[in-house]
Amino acid sequence: MTSPTAAPAHGVVDLERDYLLQNYARLPVTLHRGKGCYVYDTNNRRYLDLIAGIGVNALGHAHPRIVKVMRDQLGMLVHTSNLYYHEYQGPLAKRLCEMSGLQRVFFGNSGTEVTEAAIKMMHSHGNRISAAKHEVIALDHSFHGRTIGSISITGQPKYRKDFEPVMPGAKWVPAGDLAALEAAVSENTCGIIFELVQGEGGVNPVPFEFARKARELADRYDALLCFDEIQCGLGRTGTYFAYQLMDPVVLPDIMVTAKPLAAGIPLGAIAANERAASTIAPGMHGSTFGGGPLACRTALEFLDILDEILPTISDLGAYFRARLTELAKRYSFIREIRGYGLMIGIDMTMPCKQIVLDALEEGLLVNCTQNTVLRLLPPYIITEQDIDRAIEGLDRVFAKEAKRAEG
Ligand SMILES: Cc1ncc(COP(=O)(O)O)c(C=O)c1O
Repeated sequence: MTSPTAAPAHGVVDLERDYLLQNYARLPVTLHRGKGCYVYDTNNRRYLDLIAGIGVNALGHAHPRIVKVMRDQLGMLVHTSNLYYHEYQGPLAKRLCEMSGLQRVFFGNSGTEVTEAAIKMMHSHGNRISAAKHEVIALDHSFHGRTIGSISITGQPKYRKDFEPVMPGAKWVPAGDLAALEAAVSENTCGIIFELVQGEGGVNPVPFEFARKARELADRYDALLCFDEIQCGLGRTGTYFAYQLMDPVVLPDIMVTAKPLAAGIPLGAIAANERAASTIAPGMHGSTFGGGPLACRTALEFLDILDEILPTISDLGAYFRARLTELAKRYSFIREIRGYGLMIGIDMTMPCKQIVLDALEEGLLVNCTQNTVLRLLPPYIITEQDIDRAIEGLDRVFAKEAKRAEG
């Protein structure tokens, strides 16, 4: 596995520099193909994928059952628009309702698109009650996507500052601060939204009593409670959705999900109870691409496979965190290991940008978020042997970092 980082394929970097918007800071590797938990660059060097396309590739790469279904559907029907029925949207909606405990589904193409649908539901709900009922309560350090509605409720000013004025009415409270939540919610609140485990915000689990309080306040003030399960949902934390980690479960009115749903084909879904779903009447919302036959059929296959492997996710996650905890004992710059299931944060006392580059040299794909948190979202098909490999590689990376800190 140990291999020097490949130089990006000749020409690719120049073309991107000359012709793409300069909004991404890419790592110096050009990926070419993948198999299982591994990806290969254009020089055929192998990398253990511990970030899985930011949680999208939950079944790894080129999963044989996914490839088979996609190939078959590609030759049949890829897109219909929502002018017509096709065979897979209804069954997939039913499946998501059964999994989530909610009643109606709308399909979009990305996390941010279904978050927009959630905001529209909240506003429509508020508008039916009073003109002042348009406030959305969200959390500090949250992340809900990049469109104007989503950045308007995201609790990180850096995502909004260049695009003001954005949608008014959002208020943020610290995750876990019950008193702040109680003070923020009022008759003017149309919705409360948060991730049960903040992903981009640094892999921060939100206390369950906070979710219970949010449910109580949403009911008291007739607001819609939405859980953003885009990163922490669909098996990532060891349950279908992270809110199902709670006992008893706190059901939201709305739930948004996306990332791994169609195993790499863009697909997002919003699930809502009847009360929230009734805020959208015919003509009030739609999507040209959303819920096409290729995406929906692939998603049904993804969910079949997820049913088979879901029981293994918590154990694999526990094993990974236990092994990381061993490392944390030896490296004082590791402050904390956080998360549930295969959603893992390694909180460091210093920036982890260089660690990501060193890990790449070691043949490991990892991500740094919030400057000091190494985020791991490995495929659910990872094995204990793969995890041991990851630990060996990270050990070498951390040893290098320790030396650097000494010198
Ligand atoms: C919790 C959460 N919400 C929303 C989004 C936005 O999803 P997308 O990038 O598919 O629009 C993300 C993306 O990382 C996310 O993690």
